[in-house]
Amino acid sequence: SDLQHIRNFSIIAHIDHGKSTLADRFIQHCGGLASREMAEQVLDSMDIERERGITIKAQSVTLDYTARDGQVYQLNFIDTPGHVDFSYEVSRSLSACEGALLVVDAGQGVEAQSVANCYTAIEQGLEVLPILNKMDLPQADPDKVKLEIEEIIGIDASDACPVSAKTGLGIEDALEYLVEKIPPPEGDREAPLQALIIDSWFDNYLGVVSLVRVKQGVLRKRDKFIIKSTGKSHQVDSIGIFTPKRLETGLLQAGEVGFVVAGIKDIQGAPVGDTLVSAQHLDVPALPGFKRVKPQVYAGIFTISSDDYEDFRDALAKLTLNDASLFYEPETSDALGFGFRCGFLGMLHMEIIQERLEREYDLDLITTAPTVIYEVLKKNGELVQVDNPSSLPDVGDIEEMREPIARCSILVPQDYLGNVITLCVEKRGVQKDMQFLGAQVSLTYDIPMAEVVLDFFDRLKSVSRGYASLDYGFERFEAAKLSRLDVLINGDRVDALAIIVHHDQVQYRGRALTEKMKELIPRQMFDVAIQAAIGGKVVARQTVKALRKNVTAKCYGGDVSRKRKLLEKQKAGKKRMKQVGNVEIPQSAFLAVLKVD
Ligand code: GTP
Repeated sequence: SDLQHIRNFSIIAHIDHGKSTLADRFIQHCGGLASREMAEQVLDSMDIERERGITIKAQSVTLDYTARDGQVYQLNFIDTPGHVDFSYEVSRSLSACEGALLVVDAGQGVEAQSVANCYTAIEQGLEVLPILNKMDLPQADPDKVKLEIEEIIGIDASDACPVSAKTGLGIEDALEYLVEKIPPPEGDREAPLQALIIDSWFDNYLGVVSLVRVKQGVLRKRDKFIIKSTGKSHQVDSIGIFTPKRLETGLLQAGEVGFVVAGIKDIQGAPVGDTLVSAQHLDVPALPGFKRVKPQVYAGIFTISSDDYEDFRDALAKLTLNDASLFYEPETSDALGFGFRCGFLGMLHMEIIQERLEREYDLDLITTAPTVIYEVLKKNGELVQVDNPSSLPDVGDIEEMREPIARCSILVPQDYLGNVITLCVEKRGVQKDMQFLGAQVSLTYDIPMAEVVLDFFDRLKSVSRGYASLDYGFERFEAAKLSRLDVLINGDRVDALAIIVHHDQVQYRGRALTEKMKELIPRQMFDVAIQAAIGGKVVARQTVKALRKNVTAKCYGGDVSRKRKLLEKQKAGKKRMKQVGNVEIPQSAFLAVLKVD
């Protein structure tokens, strides 16, 4: 299409405000898919995404929209994830767009995540258009929400477009609105090629597929191009758009967004944020890329059976082909054997990866307690980063421990302000700002990342009856009084159970952890002592009493099938157990630290 008839846009929305549903409506309206082909939510292609209803990977769809004036517009919609764990993907998607629709649930109102993403869009120079969704609900209050958009985000909401993605109300108005308000892309099609890689993923049949935005020039099938950072030359095998099905068009021109396949075998060969230039015009400069994302949460993952180690390694290698934010390196634990230390964007990311490993690669895994990354200044002046409590230097060698601090933006209705402040204080938060905006309060707190990533979000939701929302990002490292809390099982230190805790919390965390583990470790044929200790000093102790009888004893002489059932049940339970010394420890005990509060 000519530039005047292209609109590139994203949808910014807090999770559950209806982004995917609205996108589906657009696709349906523009005839991208016959309705029988519409799986419930076509954009979320991974099974887990569909089940959890969370958009993880950025995706794009190109639609032909015939406007009321009879003109046909090419709409390129770039999907963005809504969950705070994946917010880095948002700025990436936005960089391919001239505009963004801000979808706000007209019953719920503005939430922190949308505010943060909106600012990113505004900073990137995008036109942000408010859309009020879920107008079919009786609690929809468009006037109140418009006011909130103006007060909290600070953009004009007077012509916000009311829609219901569910019933289809206002969908065409929304399309007209975006065609009118979002500026067309700019870019000289006669100039030499310059294109930005927005996303790359691995496809079993095609190899690496990249989603690109052509900034200037034209990229055609069989053209030779160079990837700026690697200097490597490739030839376009296939090029086109998603409708959302892959459709070859033979070329992509300045202003357009689509896919390129060029026989690249490894995702590192087409890095996200990199620039493609023509092999004839190597001097064309690289476009500004994206900030690299750093994992915030680390955990060890081990196979229950050591026979699965090789499969596990292969599975991780495959997963990283599609998820550049997943980090891993080999780790050896005395208790758990050979495994990998993995870095995740947040707890949700960790859960999703573990689930995919188990489901798609059929592995039985044990995950250790997640931790954040600490900075340790050693007495010899060396500064090291520690992502594993068991690799913390000796206490005697440590000059200073520093923990990561997250800057948290919280939006909460006034009624729950007290609860939320209490929670922030409990989590060692320091207030940075507080503003009353209509019925909501915008709070800014600096809170240790360790407290934020574990259960802060869940707690925030529960103390505010689901109304408070959160956005956070790494701010800085700060000196803190921290120690490693070791867990000893029958006198042996279990490296995989160690956690790093703040001095003020030692007693209480030690007690809570041992109590929780006592509940979780099944009774064995002997007493099991669980101790929590700091540098050899025991701070808490619990005992799991020995079993008195054989579990199946009570079935002797009885029904055989009942006995078999009982044994099978034990076996199933065993799947998620790991033998540590002579004690069997279930997965849940490794994560017990998450359950204490
Ligand atoms: P993520 O993709 O996970 O970020 O969430 P999302 O913002 O895309 O939300 P999604 O489209 O999955 O919608 C969330 C829920 O709201 C679903 O149960 C939808 O059926 C429902 N929903 C979406 N739009 C409307 C609407 O206009 N009216 C009503 N009543 N429900 C809606």
